[in-house]
Amino acid sequence: MIKKKIALTGDRPTGKLHLGHYVGSLATRIRLQEDHKQYVMIADAQALTDYAHDPQRVRENILQVALDYLAVGIDPQKTTFFIQSLIPPIAELTIYFLNLVTWNRLKHNPTVKAEIQQKGYGEEVPAGFMIYPVSQAADITIVKADVVPVGDDQLPMIEQTVELVRKFNRLYKTECLIEPKALLSPMARLPGTDGLAKMGKSLGNAIFLADIPDEITKKVKGMYTDPNHLRVEDPGKVEGNPVFTYLDAFASDKEKVEDLKNHYRRGGLGDSVVKKYLLEVLLAFLEPIRKKREELAKDPKYVMDLLFRGTDQVNVIAHQTLKEVRQSMGIDYV
Ligand code: TRP
Repeated sequence: MIKKKIALTGDRPTGKLHLGHYVGSLATRIRLQEDHKQYVMIADAQALTDYAHDPQRVRENILQVALDYLAVGIDPQKTTFFIQSLIPPIAELTIYFLNLVTWNRLKHNPTVKAEIQQKGYGEEVPAGFMIYPVSQAADITIVKADVVPVGDDQLPMIEQTVELVRKFNRLYKTECLIEPKALLSPMARLPGTDGLAKMGKSLGNAIFLADIPDEITKKVKGMYTDPNHLRVEDPGKVEGNPVFTYLDAFASDKEKVEDLKNHYRRGGLGDSVVKKYLLEVLLAFLEPIRKKREELAKDPKYVMDLLFRGTDQVNVIAHQTLKEVRQSMGIDYV
């Protein structure tokens, strides 16, 4: 039997997941679980790197994120879920990795830089936040992941992980750590309902997997389109028009989407008609997800137990990796 490739990915539990998460990585995970040994981690410790003031929010969202996973069809029979902070070897490996990266290198991570700007930290960046890419490298390597399905904003983290693995293996003359590969989503990043490049839970431009039909309706009606498409007769722009980007991502009738695009470009097709169709598509996509989510939410203990059982399994593997790490470094005193 050939050994299955190992996949690991995760999310920070700071809010419910949305359509951007679906397109960016949940869809890939549903696919990967069929032929990979897949781990999905709830990154509560990483969430605390910028939510240290609100651990309660992180705690509450562990269940919410787990519900989202199960509702979209990440299958606990095929995927192992776990909670990051309950795996002590991740923290220990992070400490050793920190000695193999320079402060200067950390300062130049483009995603971290953008986040520092967005959060308005200025010079007062929490040190834990600054080093989260290193702890993410430990998340990935502790289970010896081969692939990491992520959105493009996470590419710098995978690059950082590869650098650390190479450095570790070279320095300690070992092959115990595995270089992971990023697996990018086949679909482009989903813009926000406001037309901004990224859908974000804190940006007020997201459609959540748990949204009820009334909310979805309100959000789709209020969506940004082509600002120059003032009258129905005017030709409209399809590129950069999030209504069409969403249709590309979620409508299965590709021919109908092409027809709508052509008509819109020619002129004579009103925004409200396109939005009405998008609403139909999204309601049909999200309805079964919401129903399943509501059903599962009635039994939070079942869901939390799944996470705890997965965590136990991962701890066994993580301790084994850590043992090899300590042996390679020659600090296996006991
Ligand atoms: N940084 C990721 C995000 O913000 C979450 C994450 C933490 C992650 N650890 C990971 C993703 C390991 C992939 C692999 O979405």
